[in-house]
Amino acid sequence: MTKEKKDVLRVALRGSRGRMGRTAIQAIHEADDLVLVAEMGSEVLDVEKVMRRAQADVVVDLTVPKALEPGIRDLIRTGADVVIGTSGVESGHIEEWEELAREYGNSVLVVPNFCLGVLLMQQLAEIAIEVFPDLEIVEIHHENKVDSPSGTASATAERLGRRREEMGGKPLASFIDDGFRGGQVCGVPIHSLRLPGMLARQELHFGRPGEQFVMSHETKDREAFMPGLLLAIRRVGSLKGLHSGLEAVLPAAWPREA
Ligand SMILES: NC(=O)c1ccc[n+]([C@@H]2O[C@H](COP(=O)([O-])OP(=O)(O)OC[C@H]3O[C@@H](n4cnc5c(N)ncnc54)[C@H](OP(=O)(O)O)[C@@H]3O)[C@@H](O)[C@H]2O)c1
Repeated sequence: MTKEKKDVLRVALRGSRGRMGRTAIQAIHEADDLVLVAEMGSEVLDVEKVMRRAQADVVVDLTVPKALEPGIRDLIRTGADVVIGTSGVESGHIEEWEELAREYGNSVLVVPNFCLGVLLMQQLAEIAIEVFPDLEIVEIHHENKVDSPSGTASATAERLGRRREEMGGKPLASFIDDGFRGGQVCGVPIHSLRLPGMLARQELHFGRPGEQFVMSHETKDREAFMPGLLLAIRRVGSLKGLHSGLEAVLPAAWPREA
């Protein structure tokens, strides 16, 4: 907060003591065009009061699924633009926040994964599903991740499952839900593993008779999320209403650095 800047974006952070929050603080401090004006942890019950004092342009939420409500509703009501990186966002949340954002005239961006490599994998997978309609997802995260499947796996399955439907394809007829085959999102089975020693890994296993095609992405450090997070902070204000996914703010060319 010691940076003296003109034309800077004032950023507030909810979940600032968490692992992502601490990495985000560092990244914001290192960015010349951003200034951190408020840090909020679980002790803050009245976010509107903190936000009023901070006069933040953008607020970032990096908390836990159970803190999404009423937390995000309160953040939207402050009129600041909101970037949500927290996992566990459901379709009911999206509908409610979309309506609130319309009412309060601010922009809300929900980003299940800030990692540029994951976004690239999702885009390339849209080509793969046209050739390999049969797909299963394996996602492996650290043992402290509370939600499963991961928001990224869910979003990937939804996107690829929908694409397959558009192409007139169907999920494998042989799928038997016996508890050993994972859960399904849009007809795509997802297998969630939680293990010490991991941060985040997603594997897309495509198969056709006689061949297998695997795409995998591994996040080894939370630093990998920062270019996407900074991009979201800088560009959320250019959006209208609620949007999901980093693509909403991705420039025409892929950014090489934040
Ligand atoms: N979108 C992405 O790319 C991405 C990447 C990685 C992780 N995530 C998600 O980001 C979130 C944070 O991850 P993490 O690894 O940093 O988790 P973490 O280390 O467990 O931190 C969570 C933080 O949430 C705070 N919190 C809990 N309830 C709160 C409340 N009611 N109000 C304000 N703060 C509250 C806690 O604050 P106190 O310490 O003050 O109690 C804690 O510091 C998770 O949902 C995770 O799944 C997203």
